[in-house]
Amino acid sequence: FEVEWDADASDKGGWSSFMAKEINEQADAVGNTLRGRVSGAGVEIPELTALGDDRLRGIDRIIIIACGTASYAGQVGSYALEQWARVPVEVQLSHEFRYRDPVLSDRTLVISVSQSGETMDTLMAVKYAIERGVTTISVCNTQSATIPRESDAAVYTHAGPEVAVASTKAFVAQITAIYLIGLHLARVRGTLSAEDQAQAVEQFESLPAKVAEAIETRDQIAQLAHWMADTRSVLFLGRHVGYPIALEGALKLKEIAYIHAEGFAAGELKHGPIALIDHGQPVFVLVPSPRTSPIMHSKVVSNIQEIRARGARVIAVVEKGDTAVLPYADDVVRLPLADTLFEPLLQVIPLQWFALELSTAKGLDVDQPRNLAKSVTVE
Ligand code: AGP
Repeated sequence: FEVEWDADASDKGGWSSFMAKEINEQADAVGNTLRGRVSGAGVEIPELTALGDDRLRGIDRIIIIACGTASYAGQVGSYALEQWARVPVEVQLSHEFRYRDPVLSDRTLVISVSQSGETMDTLMAVKYAIERGVTTISVCNTQSATIPRESDAAVYTHAGPEVAVASTKAFVAQITAIYLIGLHLARVRGTLSAEDQAQAVEQFESLPAKVAEAIETRDQIAQLAHWMADTRSVLFLGRHVGYPIALEGALKLKEIAYIHAEGFAAGELKHGPIALIDHGQPVFVLVPSPRTSPIMHSKVVSNIQEIRARGARVIAVVEKGDTAVLPYADDVVRLPLADTLFEPLLQVIPLQWFALELSTAKGLDVDQPRNLAKSVTVE
């Protein structure tokens, strides 16, 4: 009797791919990123305390710089930073940042977001910011990588090593870390009531269990992907924090399933993209919670009605108990309840599974897509 030993499979912990393993590790990625930073008293990130509260109180503008998936984490994070810390926030792609001759001052805070901490475009943007006297914080998943070493402070995401080219667990950990920065700034700057801080902490504390539940959507998504194996184009719609999740869902599909995919802000549909809707066009719609964002919810339900009337095949991603979409959706993916800002951390998970399952159904290499490298160390 001989036991076959496959080192590669053992690294994958029994999963069919690193990506599947990493999607499955997301509850831990979030939990580990929160550890030691959240307590009943609120959020305190020791690395930011070391920067000095006066410096953080003086910040009058935040620019998030990142590429690809990290930039979408930045976009999601920008809503929370602005809402909680009351500072204007913009998100710029690292490779665009330097070339626009940005207006910067010693009151500007640049937050870079990078899983690897070695992405050359982001590193060059950080160096540019440092030369102009800007405060820099690095959100990074790789201990002692170049970008966190160059920055004034590093807020590490503790997602664990990410091997698959398509980023998954690093993404949810990045959003978590940016939210923590938002709550730290809000506490120091006094911009959030104790009640609102407690509510956010409560959302954080229940998050890992909800992420674990969202991971359970895999079987349903696998069936969908099986049905769609020949699909040539998929659209994603979202509003507010759902918009960057639509962009991320589309990027995942392009990267590993080589399918044309686009993400749109749902409100933008009528300004052009609705012309793409034809009979059978699959559209994922990220539906905001009717409890915590009723107005956005009703607007997105109207969007669903509009595209359904034009023949779209609608896959609605909703919170459990939301029945408003049932008459208009072909498929409904149900997720645990979360406040609006915390929904993206759950909504992205079925989209990750969808890309993985479609890539698998097409017989592609999920972990090593063509033309791509895990870390892009050239400009
Ligand atoms: C994600 O799936 C991509 N492979 C890619 O967009 C990546 O997020 C981007 O290159 C940034 O990498 P970084 O986080 O290591 O800086």
